[in-house]
Parts: sequence; C-alpha cells; structure tokens
Amino acid sequence: MNERTDRRRRVCVLTGGGDAPGLNAVLRAFVTASERLGLDVLGSEDSFAGLVDPERVLVPLDRNRVRGILPRGGSILGCSNRANPFAYPSRDAAGQETFIDVSERVLRRLHDERIDILVLIGGDGTMSLGARFMEKGVSVVGIPKTIDNDLMATDMTFGFDTAASIATWAVDNLHSTAEAHDRVMIVEVMGRYAGWIALRAAIAGGADVVLIPEIPYDIQRVADKIRRRSRQGSAFSMVVVGEGARPANGDFAIVQQGREGHLPRLGGAGHAVAAALEGIVDHEVRVTVLGHLQRGGIPSSFDRMLGTRLGVHAAYLCAEGRFGRMVALHGLEISHVPLQSAVGHSKVVQPDDDLVRTARSLGIELGAE
Ligand code: F6P
Repeated sequence: MNERTDRRRRVCVLTGGGDAPGLNAVLRAFVTASERLGLDVLGSEDSFAGLVDPERVLVPLDRNRVRGILPRGGSILGCSNRANPFAYPSRDAAGQETFIDVSERVLRRLHDERIDILVLIGGDGTMSLGARFMEKGVSVVGIPKTIDNDLMATDMTFGFDTAASIATWAVDNLHSTAEAHDRVMIVEVMGRYAGWIALRAAIAGGADVVLIPEIPYDIQRVADKIRRRSRQGSAFSMVVVGEGARPANGDFAIVQQGREGHLPRLGGAGHAVAAALEGIVDHEVRVTVLGHLQRGGIPSSFDRMLGTRLGVHAAYLCAEGRFGRMVALHGLEISHVPLQSAVGHSKVVQPDDDLVRTARSLGIELGAE
C-alpha cells in the first residue's frame, strides 16, 4: 500500500463507533485540506461496513460534498459500533448470529480500490482496529473522537464539550423545578467508565452531589448531604450520576451484556441511586436520564474548532506520508502521537485530579472520602 506512484494518492476515511458532535466538522476540514494538498478522499459509510460489503460503493468526498455540514450533528458517513472487521456480525448455517474475521476482505477491498491511506475517526475501539490493520501493512492515520473524553494521548476529544454543555444545561433547567417541589433531582449522564461529563456538569451546573464510575459511592453519604442541606434551609438537592457509577461493593447498572468484541450497554445507574435513597431521605426523588440527547444536535464552537484543527492536521500527516500516527491536542497545540499510545487504556478520573479537588472544595459530595 505504501508504494510511491505518480498518481494522486487515495485516502479512505470512516467514522467508527458512536457518533460525536463535531464529526462533520472533522470531515469537512479533512476533505477540504486534503483536496488542496493533492489527495483524493473517499468515504466508507457506516464505519467499516462500507469496506466489508462489496456491494457498497466508497463515496467520493470533495469540497462540494462537505459544504454546509459544519454545524450538523451526526456524521454524513454514518457510524456503527457493530462493524468490527475482526469480529464482524454474521449468521451461521442455523441462522444464529455469529462473529467472523473479515479483515482480509477489507485488505482486498483497499487494494482493489487503490487506497493508499486509511484515516480512522474514532475512539479507543476504532484506534485498536487501526493498530491491527497497521500490523497487516496498512498506512493508518487516526483522529480521536468520543464524548466520554477518555482517550489516552490527547488532552481532549471533540464531542466532549458539546455533551458536557448539554449535561450542564440539564442541571441548570432541573434546578428550578427541584426547588419548586423540594425534590431531589437525579440527572444520569453518559461517559461509560469515565466521570468527565458528570464532573463537569456538576461543577459548572452547581450540583450538590456527583457520583462517578471511578469513585464507588456510599449512599449514606449522599443521604447525609441531602439532609444537611435541608437543615441549612435548602429543601432540594441536585445529584449528577455518571452512567457507570456504582455503589461500593456493588455492580455497574447494565441493561445488556456486550456481544463478542463489544462493551456492555449501561443504563439504570440514576434509578439505582433513586431506589437506594427512597426511604432514607424524606424527599421525593425524580430521575432524568439524558442519554443520547448528549450526542445529538449542533456541535459547540469548541468542538467545531477542535475537530477542524484535527482534520487539517490529519490531512498534512497523510500528505507528508507520516503514518501510524494519531493527531492529538496537547495543551493548546495540535500535535500527533503513535497511534498505539491511544489504545488499550482509558483516561479515567484519578482520585487526585484537579476536578475532584475542585468539586470537594466546593462542598460537592462524591459519595466517598
Ligand atoms: O462512548 C460514547 C457513548 O455515548 C457512551 O457515553 C455510552 O455509554 C455509549 O456510547 C452508548 O452507546 P450506544 O449509542 O451504543 O447506546
């Protein structure tokens, strides 16, 4: 795939995993910059599905195709977190779902389509697939994406700012109704096993309690905080719960176990906190689950900027032939790191993180010492 020829180099780009606000900003920037740098870009729809299925055409992407998409959520290419070519969903002879390795099919397709470079926009899962294709000789460039902000090797991922802003907006809005009814309002936010969205929404929204996956909680501490507030004249409380929060010695709230090569689907952490509080506090407790509201809609200005800068930088890496790299934000600068450094370990909240200290200093209860 790396042979130098005189023809224009062809890049295949795809958006892997779940969508994140800012994906279209990345695509617009990457395609526009690539065109100026003399690269031809094609898109694989629905992540790797567009490459695996020979019936599906790769979509030519040029400046005209990406006009007007900057403020749009989702991805013009579509996303999938089921299209893992190393464990691809299929049916066996009995019609049962099974998972097969179709990675050779992807390699053949890249060869047949004369693709020189594969650009993967995605999170940890997509970067791991990139690393495996690199081992098979593919020239890969990665662009980090996830609303959870839990990717190693970059200070921030696009999508996070929008998701955290929506979560903060929800905390703001629920405040007034909580106060009007003297209720405990629980807001369950996304973030899987990382508490970044929860922490930011709690601090920026002025919540009273935040429960995150990294710090298993003691419900008595939460109840004490709510009672203390009541004694001090605030009869309502705002509680932010990360979807991966769990009680000390308890389990994650899971609605569906993960299929092969996939993570479990989380859900129910907010209701679990509500059920545990019922009976030990006098208040009525209500739960709002934000869910995919945090992923949809218009990306924030920050996410558009970050996505745009990452997209342009990735185009330069492609043009300069610097493969096996993932573009990244370090401080205020865009740089790049070995793609493998983003794989295999998540960036979760550490107990001594500045945000944890900030929350504690503001009197926000985290459910544990
Ligand atoms: O990783 C991003 C994320 O939005 C998580 O915060 C959440 O747990 C998960 O994806 C939800 O995935 P799905 O869209 O498959 O329900």
